[in-house]
Amino acid sequence: MSTQRELTDRIRESVIPERGEIPLFVYSDPDVYALELERLFGQTWLFVAHLSEVPKPGSFVVRSMGEESVIVGRGDDSVVRVFLNACRHRGMKLACEDFGETNMWRCPYHGFTYGSKGDFLGTFLGAPFERVAYPQGLDRAALHLLEARCEVYKGMVFATWAKEGPSLEEFLGDVRWYLDLIIGRAEMEVVGVPERWVVPTNWRLPSENFISDAYHTATAHSFLSRLDMVKGADFGRDGYHVDPGGGHGLGVGVHVDGESYFPAELAGEYAANLGEGQLETLARIKNMHGGVFPNMSFLIPNFIELDGRRVSGAMIRVWQPAGPNRTQVWSWHLVEKNAPEWWKKLGRRMYTQTFSSSGMFDQDDTENWEAQTRVSDGALYRKDEFVLHYGMGLELPPLPSDEFPGPGGVYDGKFSEAAGRTFYRVWLDHILREKTR
Ligand code: FES
Ligand code: FE
Repeated sequence: MSTQRELTDRIRESVIPERGEIPLFVYSDPDVYALELERLFGQTWLFVAHLSEVPKPGSFVVRSMGEESVIVGRGDDSVVRVFLNACRHRGMKLACEDFGETNMWRCPYHGFTYGSKGDFLGTFLGAPFERVAYPQGLDRAALHLLEARCEVYKGMVFATWAKEGPSLEEFLGDVRWYLDLIIGRAEMEVVGVPERWVVPTNWRLPSENFISDAYHTATAHSFLSRLDMVKGADFGRDGYHVDPGGGHGLGVGVHVDGESYFPAELAGEYAANLGEGQLETLARIKNMHGGVFPNMSFLIPNFIELDGRRVSGAMIRVWQPAGPNRTQVWSWHLVEKNAPEWWKKLGRRMYTQTFSSSGMFDQDDTENWEAQTRVSDGALYRKDEFVLHYGMGLELPPLPSDEFPGPGGVYDGKFSEAAGRTFYRVWLDHILREKTR
């Protein structure tokens, strides 16, 4: 047990992203995790929902920010707002369903009620036997649900507990150009409800994997080349590694077939939503994996052949922290609302076969993340300064800006950990900052 000052000194001295050095203890130490909940998840922007999940006034979904349950609801004014899912009377969880549509939220404990629509969204409406129980009256304004700052980018709803600080667009910065290729290329909608499952791993391992680990695909997912589903074992290298700054990062896999793998029926909608460089990049994409700092991932999985057609999809993941060694995975499958039926149907099949609770890739990845977490929790590793290697591409300069249309530091070939090192620089900025909400 160390004091908070001793812990932050130890982190400052041993987490050295510039040299690609990350000590193993930061993955399972309960004190590091407690700091993260307060200084990172209590401060930064977090993805909570897609607008299509709250389509009407009164519709809501229940999500988490860090370990805290929140209600994401839409008012009559069409504005989406985010509240702590806790009654102001004694803190009982207010919305116990995962999603729904309602005129008001009534606390299951003593019955305090709150508006769920329009101007009344989050407002205290009344209490049972109010005149008898509170003859002196209640300060209604003080009973308003605690509200997070909320902004939307291309249908993606983000929230933060920080009252001040960067806007969502400033926070996202250059990663927006790449996010557009997934969720801004057309009108997108979530298919069904997000899948959820629990993995005994620290949340950072999968988050980093999507941001800067294309290298593992040749080994961990070698079934792809062994089953002749891709050309050659180094299929994960072709393309670009991108460090857009801000702790975000991604890999863009490209093909050389000359023609876009996306459905021709959607070409007009893509052209209306994307810039020239984005369209040019989308036409070459065979996959794209990445992450928005700290725990949201996005993915266009490798195009695979189903029923004689190449098909892929659009996915969002959140690696929800549930303890230093436990992560609840949230997985959304999205599709273009105006897509032809074959693309929607095959996309659902592709989703269940590749990246989902039943996905072939998830089976491979999860085994590694689980074992890494077990190792990091061993007493010997915690005592010794066992330092992990994040040095791939340390000496490589980014490409000149005229060689790729997208912004950020762009590296030729996906074998680099540049964005992973930036992830840890930004992580350090949060963890070592003493100011909290
Ligand atoms: Fe909600 Fe008492 S805790 S009404
Ligand atoms: Fe993987």
